Amino acid sequence: MKIAIIGGTGTAGKALTRMALDQGHHVHMLVRDPKKVSITDSSLKVVTGDAFSEDTLFDLMSECEVIINVFGQPNRAKPLYSTLTKKILRKMTHMGIKRYIGVTGGSLTILGDRKSLVNRIGAFGFSIFYGPMIKDKQLEYEILKESDRDWTLIRLPFVRDHSVTGYEVSLTDMPGLSVSPEVIAAFILDELESKRFSQQLPFISNGSVT
Ligand SMILES: NC(=O)c1ccc[n+]([C@@H]2O[C@H](COP(=O)([O-])OP(=O)(O)OC[C@H]3O[C@@H](n4cnc5c(N)ncnc54)[C@H](OP(=O)(O)O)[C@@H]3O)[C@@H](O)[C@H]2O)c1
Repeated sequence: MKIAIIGGTGTAGKALTRMALDQGHHVHMLVRDPKKVSITDSSLKVVTGDAFSEDTLFDLMSECEVIINVFGQPNRAKPLYSTLTKKILRKMTHMGIKRYIGVTGGSLTILGDRKSLVNRIGAFGFSIFYGPMIKDKQLEYEILKESDRDWTLIRLPFVRDHSVTGYEVSLTDMPGLSVSPEVIAAFILDELESKRFSQQLPFISNGSVT
C-alpha cells in the first residue's frame, strides 16, 4: 500500500516507518528536519514541512491510500492533537482518502470501557497532571467519532523497549503496563491489512512485561 506517516521521526514513528518499508509498503514520511531521517529506501518519499501546513499535508497525502498519525508533542505543550486530526480528516475527505489510523494515550476513557482500578486511578492522575492534553485527546476522539472516514484510534500505555515481541489487545481495558515501538508498528501494520478495529479504540500492550 501507499501510506503517509505523520510523526515518523518520533519514538513510535521510527519503528513504524522501518517496518512498513520492510513489509514492502510505499511510505510518504513527513519530517520537519530532513537531517533526522536515517533511512534510505527507494520506496520512501520524504516530505519536508510542518503538519499544520495545508500544502505540506497535500504533498504528503497525495496518492496515499492510508494516513497514519503518530504525531506527538511534549506533555506540557499547548495540545494540538485535535486540531491536527481535524485538519487531516478534512484533507482526507477532499482528497478521497478513506482510511485513518492514529494513536492516543491509554488514559482516554470511553463509554463501554471496563478499566481496572489501577488503570482508572492512572487515568485520573493523568487528568490532574496533564489536564489540557487529556481534554484535547478526548476532543480528538469526538472528532473521529463524528467523522465518516474509516478510522482506528489505538490506545497506548507507556512506550518503552521490550525484548518480548507479540501484542495483547483489548477493547475494554489496558492489557499491560507498556508497549514497545516495534509492537505498535506491528499492530498498526496488521490493522492496515485486516481492518479488524475500524471505528474502534483498541488498547494494546506487549505480550508480557519484561
Ligand atoms: N511515548 C509514550 O510513552 C506514549 C504513551 C502513550 C501515548 N503516546 C502517544 O503516542 C503518540 C506519539 O508519541 P511519541 O512518544 O512517539 O512522540 P514523539 O517521540 O515526541 O514524536 C513526535 C513526532 O511528531 C512530530 N511532530 C511534532 N510536531 C510536529 C509538527 N508541527 N509537524 C510535523 N511533525 C511534528 C515529531 O517530529 P520532530 O522529529 O520534527 O520533532 C516526531 O516525529 C502521541 O499521540 C502520544 O500522546 C505516547
